[in-house]
Amino acid sequence: MKNIVILISGRGSNMQAIVSAAIPNVRIAAVLSNRADAAGLAWAAERGIATESLNHKDFDSRFAFDTAMMEKIDAYAPDLVVLAGFMRILTPQFCAHYEGRLINIHPSLLPSFTGLHTHERAIEAGCRVAGCSIHFVTAELDCGPIIAQGVVPVLDGDNADTLAARVLAVEHKLFPQAVADFAAGRLKIEGNRVINQQRNAAGDQNLLA
Ligand code: GRF
Repeated sequence: MKNIVILISGRGSNMQAIVSAAIPNVRIAAVLSNRADAAGLAWAAERGIATESLNHKDFDSRFAFDTAMMEKIDAYAPDLVVLAGFMRILTPQFCAHYEGRLINIHPSLLPSFTGLHTHERAIEAGCRVAGCSIHFVTAELDCGPIIAQGVVPVLDGDNADTLAARVLAVEHKLFPQAVADFAAGRLKIEGNRVINQQRNAAGDQNLLA
């Protein structure tokens, strides 16, 4: 059994997708948040999952907050820490501590559009496709070896909300799959690339035809 700790800041729909997927060999040890009122925390608690929150505003530095967060996370002895809409920039210490067992979902086709307002920026740039990326986390924001990407079209008349909704539906399929691949030991990091034996055998299902 692999212990997984999921970090959220809000709605938690990706966390819900991972929990609901009931991935073999995966135990959701806890859902943690930097916001006590994150809607996803209540959802997880209702399902009997351990939940905790730690308000970043109670700490005078990023380092102090991350140190306290690490203590909470490590109490669950995680094999994998999943950032699912966790809206905090992490310190290099935090990233180094969980190197190779910390993954994030970002709503763009990385390396394009790191940071915030990704959908708005993709539309403004005239992109014909957009999507999401799941990647191992390194100290550089929204960088790190890419595990999986999902692609959707950008349609005429799209705004940030309609595009976000189209991408989110793909996020909910891709993220549980990436967690399952990690838990099954199918992901190998080689330099900046992630080798996934199963994907290579099956062909990449996530690309538009
Ligand atoms: C998702 O779009 C994710 O890609 C981004 O933040 C959003 C979180 O949504 N990092 P939710 O909390 O999982 O519903």
